[in-house]
Amino acid sequence: MSTTTGLQLRSRISKGGELELSLAEVTTPEPGPDQVVIKVEATPINPSDLGLLLGPADMSTAKASGSGAGVKITAKVPEQALPFITARLDQAMPVGNEAAGTVIKAGSSEAAQALLGKTVSAVGGAMYAQYRLLKATDCQPLPVGTTAAEGASWFVNPLTALGMTETMKAEGHKALVHTAAASNLGQMLNKICLEDGIGLVNVVRSAEQAKILKDIGAKHVVDSTSPKFMDELTQALVETGATIAFDAIGGGRLASQILTCMEIALNKTAKEYSRYGSTTHKQVYIYGSLNTGPVELVRNYGMAWGVGGWLLTPFLQKIGRPGQTRLRERVVNNLKTTFASHYTKVVSLPEALDLKNIAIYGKRATGEKFLINPNK
Ligand SMILES: NC(=O)c1ccc[n+]([C@@H]2O[C@H](COP(=O)([O-])OP(=O)(O)OC[C@H]3O[C@@H](n4cnc5c(N)ncnc54)[C@H](OP(=O)(O)O)[C@@H]3O)[C@@H](O)[C@H]2O)c1
Repeated sequence: MSTTTGLQLRSRISKGGELELSLAEVTTPEPGPDQVVIKVEATPINPSDLGLLLGPADMSTAKASGSGAGVKITAKVPEQALPFITARLDQAMPVGNEAAGTVIKAGSSEAAQALLGKTVSAVGGAMYAQYRLLKATDCQPLPVGTTAAEGASWFVNPLTALGMTETMKAEGHKALVHTAAASNLGQMLNKICLEDGIGLVNVVRSAEQAKILKDIGAKHVVDSTSPKFMDELTQALVETGATIAFDAIGGGRLASQILTCMEIALNKTAKEYSRYGSTTHKQVYIYGSLNTGPVELVRNYGMAWGVGGWLLTPFLQKIGRPGQTRLRERVVNNLKTTFASHYTKVVSLPEALDLKNIAIYGKRATGEKFLINPNK
């Protein structure tokens, strides 16, 4: 096998409503002058990857066949989900947002040659593959002594966490609320807020998650399963003055409950009564879909509020190159501390398509993050 022929994971949903996951043997083209080929050594399975990998498939119907590089997984996709994914139907889509690995081939340009032999991180999709052709300028060299595993999750979660505090400041808020807060991203956000002196209210759904955050120094942690949840959330909002929230859950009433508690917290300190509710703008950005059900708003928070979507890519476009470079440098210089990710298991590409593993990482549970090493 030539060094640049290798396996690539593909996800295909047919017009007939069947998900098929498989491994294809692909030949990576030789790099052009400004390009490099990386041998991918570490690539995380994040919720955003699962959105493409598994899509809306009902994984309780999943079946496996074949073995090794010939493994194949099939599962049924509910018919009502198909109209929302027409643009991907019948296409074998490569998966994997971000990764790290070694540059094994480089084009003739100085920038490409400078990367030869280096461990780099990159973002751009199709990373669940043994080899990946990239532009040299899209590669981020890692500091000496940083492994591919340490650098693999360098982009999506760190920049999203930083994007939250940046958005908070840009929109004139002084503290923020975060939900599903014991997530990998949530732990990074806590460390950022502690470093930068920003008030953060963490909303979790179990005592174990609260402990994870308290152990890394979180000051305000509220458990949504507590019978006094609304009072406890309001108190944390009074103490921090948070008027913006980033909600990874989406479906259900949590976004609305946060707005309600913000309104009560603001009214506690209001100097003057307003019949239209507090005049301070309260904002919830839904940035994840951990609960895919409808968002239920029970409006008892006046008229100065908003609920909207938040996504990393448009945020990065908004702040432009200089802003991106500033944030990326902060991440790369702190990969072993603030932006460290923890993985429960490192799997090969065929192992990533083992039904037992899919059942674990597909749950998107706290502390169950998998890393793929396609060259394991
Ligand atoms: N918008 C963007 O640009 C962007 C970028 C990056 C990440 N994200 C989002 O960020 C979120 C966190 O990512 P991550 O990689 O840090 O996740 P992660 O480490 O895999 O953790 C997921 C967390 O969500 C909790 N959770 C799962 N389902 C839930 C539900 N229905 N209700 C409440 N909590 C639930 C889990 O808790 P349990 O153990 O209790 O299940 C766990 O703590 C994801 O939703 C992801 O899609 C969005």
